[in-house]
Amino acid sequence: MGLFTSTEFDSLECLLIDQLQDLYDAENRLVDALPKMADAASTPELKQAFQSHLQETKGQVNRLEQAFKLLDKSAQSKSCEAMKGLVKEGEEMIDAKGDPAIKDAALIAAAQRVEHYEMAGYGSARNFAQRCGRPDVADLLQQTLQEEGDADKKLSQIAESSINAEAARA
Ligand SMILES: [Fe+2]
Repeated sequence: MGLFTSTEFDSLECLLIDQLQDLYDAENRLVDALPKMADAASTPELKQAFQSHLQETKGQVNRLEQAFKLLDKSAQSKSCEAMKGLVKEGEEMIDAKGDPAIKDAALIAAAQRVEHYEMAGYGSARNFAQRCGRPDVADLLQQTLQEEGDADKKLSQIAESSINAEAARA
């Protein structure tokens, strides 16, 4: 949301478009950030998880473009301040020194914050689309919501199956 301009909402569809623009910016920021997360990860399984989520994220960008198209809008971004902050926190972990397992645990903690933020955004946007009588758009958003949820579970599983225990021993 701009600091010096106020947003005006006169329909739920306006709000939906606003939310899509925010998500579009957030996803594009992640397309830039995920390769750095993958490079910084030491555990091969985590590296792989970041790389495969990068591919999924590119698909999610594509789905948002489809959603804009279905709504007859051009795909536009509005700066997502929250994702900027989350990526910045991730960069702090990327640059951190120290034990590799602890660093991996830190990268996972940063990435899971991102997933939960996105899940909240997609959940709201999907419900708005449904209420606007746009099940086609809601369906696209639901597919991404599902992927974000799966990515989050995968990260929990990687953390708990090996990395956290190793980090505790370090
Ligand atoms: Fe995403």
